[in-house]
Amino acid sequence: MDKLTGKNLTKEYSKGITALKNVSIEVNKGDIVVVMGPSGSGKTTLINMLGLLDVPTEGTVDIDGRDINKLKERERCEIMNSTFGFIFQFFYLIPELTVVENIMLPLWIKEKSYRRIRSYYEAAEKLLEEFNLRNRKDAYPSHLSGGEMQKVTICRSLVCNPEIIFADEPTGSIDKKSSEMFFNFVKNLNEKKGITFFIGTHNETFLQFATKVVYLNQGEIENIK
Ligand SMILES: Nc1ncnc2c1ncn2[C@@H]1O[C@H](COP(=O)(O)OP(=O)(O)OP(=O)(O)O)[C@@H](O)[C@H]1O
Ligand SMILES: [Mg+2]
Repeated sequence: MDKLTGKNLTKEYSKGITALKNVSIEVNKGDIVVVMGPSGSGKTTLINMLGLLDVPTEGTVDIDGRDINKLKERERCEIMNSTFGFIFQFFYLIPELTVVENIMLPLWIKEKSYRRIRSYYEAAEKLLEEFNLRNRKDAYPSHLSGGEMQKVTICRSLVCNPEIIFADEPTGSIDKKSSEMFFNFVKNLNEKKGITFFIGTHNETFLQFATKVVYLNQGEIENIK
């Protein structure tokens, strides 16, 4: 993916609740885009539009010049599973699956192969190792702390080697040390693998290495730097 473009995006959830108003934005390969703005300004909504998790009321999203509305459902799902990685603000871990199973899930969806299950498991374990969570691999999400859940969602976002990671308040629940680890992770993945990031956050530390900063206010772009 070389370019992701949102054009004139407007999202009206219901009458009178317009979360995004005519927002246009371009994300290029290798960018680290940081979206800031007060609570309710539309950061999550914008991530959901560009990440194809929800549809705008008006406007379009293009990937490498292709309007996603013109893609087949299967193609869109393929992009979301293999090209995109997601770190959600509210985690969305599957409660019935263990930590390691939650992380393996995107690989399982990508290629449902019983023969490769061992390699899926190993890929998930390797990520858990990096985040010092190996000892929690068989735990269920309800037995994890908020910070541990956040780390599991970070691992899950990485397992399919995505080209772009959408991260919604990724350091909101983790301590300073883990946040620093995450910053280094972002920098490393960006520099060494060219992974693009689109991050919605209140954490100003991200500004140090952002290539583009978008300030949202009441659903509108106030400023782009
Ligand atoms: N599913 C929904 N239905 C109705 N209104 C919604 C829905 N999701 C969000 N909103 C509203 O849209 C606006 C933007 O919400 P959004 O979650 O995008 O903000 P945000 O910038 O991510 O906030 P935060 O920093 O608190 O995460 C808010 O006024 C919110 O109440
Ligand atoms: Mg949000």
